[in-house]
Amino acid sequence: MLEKTIIAQSPGRINLIGEHTDYNDGFVLPAAVAQKATFKLVKNGSEKIVNIQSENQGNRYSFALDNFKPIGNGWENYVMGVVHELQKIGAKLAGFDGVFGGDVPIGGGMSSSAALECSLAYGLNELFNLGLGKWEIIKACQMAEHNFVGIRCGIMDQFASVMGQKDHAMLLDCRSLEFKYIPCDFESYQLILLNTNVSHSLASSEYNTRRRECEIGVKILKEKFPTIKNLRDVSIQMLNEISAQLPDEIFRRCKHVILENQRVIAGTESLIQKDFSRLGQLIYQSHFSLQNDYEVSCEELDFLVDLTIGKDYILGSRMMGGGFGGCTLVLLEDQKVDQFINFAAEKYKNKFRINLTPYKVSIENGASVTSL
Ligand code: GLA
Repeated sequence: MLEKTIIAQSPGRINLIGEHTDYNDGFVLPAAVAQKATFKLVKNGSEKIVNIQSENQGNRYSFALDNFKPIGNGWENYVMGVVHELQKIGAKLAGFDGVFGGDVPIGGGMSSSAALECSLAYGLNELFNLGLGKWEIIKACQMAEHNFVGIRCGIMDQFASVMGQKDHAMLLDCRSLEFKYIPCDFESYQLILLNTNVSHSLASSEYNTRRRECEIGVKILKEKFPTIKNLRDVSIQMLNEISAQLPDEIFRRCKHVILENQRVIAGTESLIQKDFSRLGQLIYQSHFSLQNDYEVSCEELDFLVDLTIGKDYILGSRMMGGGFGGCTLVLLEDQKVDQFINFAAEKYKNKFRINLTPYKVSIENGASVTSL
């Protein structure tokens, strides 16, 4: 009998607002997009051999299910990481072949990595009848990134990739993991992404550094406020009260997280009330906070945000995702989208000699699987 082939798909994500809040037990407002990773999987009859091929990069990797570990940098670690985490929660796997591809830009800040991880986990769940629920998949994929890729990421990307719902953003409380679907109808406005096509090597090391800086802040805050668990529990008044004890950098990191959480709540209200001007203002505030206080932006991202300022048809813009490259998000009048894209692409090319890649955002469903 011919083995069945599983095709699993999992999308990239945008985040309307709430950056670097997820690993501080805060709030985020992401949504899944049309760009997705696709993983084709079939059992190969062996007990433990896994053969994986990247359709886009053309390279292959094989490993044995009972003997593998992270290697340098590359997609192999995402694949092995997911397998490892699924095994850790009891998954009984056998040898399989897989081919993956898709159109989530790598390093584009739309989380191609979570899309890849979640498509694999979704597919293996189906191929081997693992019976895993969505949250088990989300958490296993997040841990794959911690343990095999070395990035101590939060849960937003994997969550959005799995739970996404067409035309809805999701307000997620990263502490309780409760979430609400929020309808996204921007009426005469449109969201676009501008991919800088740069991905600075600082991205992963600085990410973990930011996480550590937040932890240092919490440790110092705890001396005065012993009941707090993390920055989620800290108000700006509390932070100001102990500002003299905090190194300036740590103070600014904490300030970003505390105010960004407030912006997520205010941004969600604005979205519900269709107060797009207010949402746009909050999006700008988020950018300036990420640029100046959290210091995860870069010249290319700041340049693109600066281009939007003073244009009455643009409501807001900011860097999106972990930072140090990737995309900016722009909320603007939909009649003006093409005109603005042409303008920004030309300015960007002149300045950096790099082509900009624009995307008109379409909010779509999360992960899915079909079998042939
Ligand atoms: C990356 C991480 C997420 C989140 C964002 C910043 O995308 O994977 O968990 O921390 O950065 O908001």
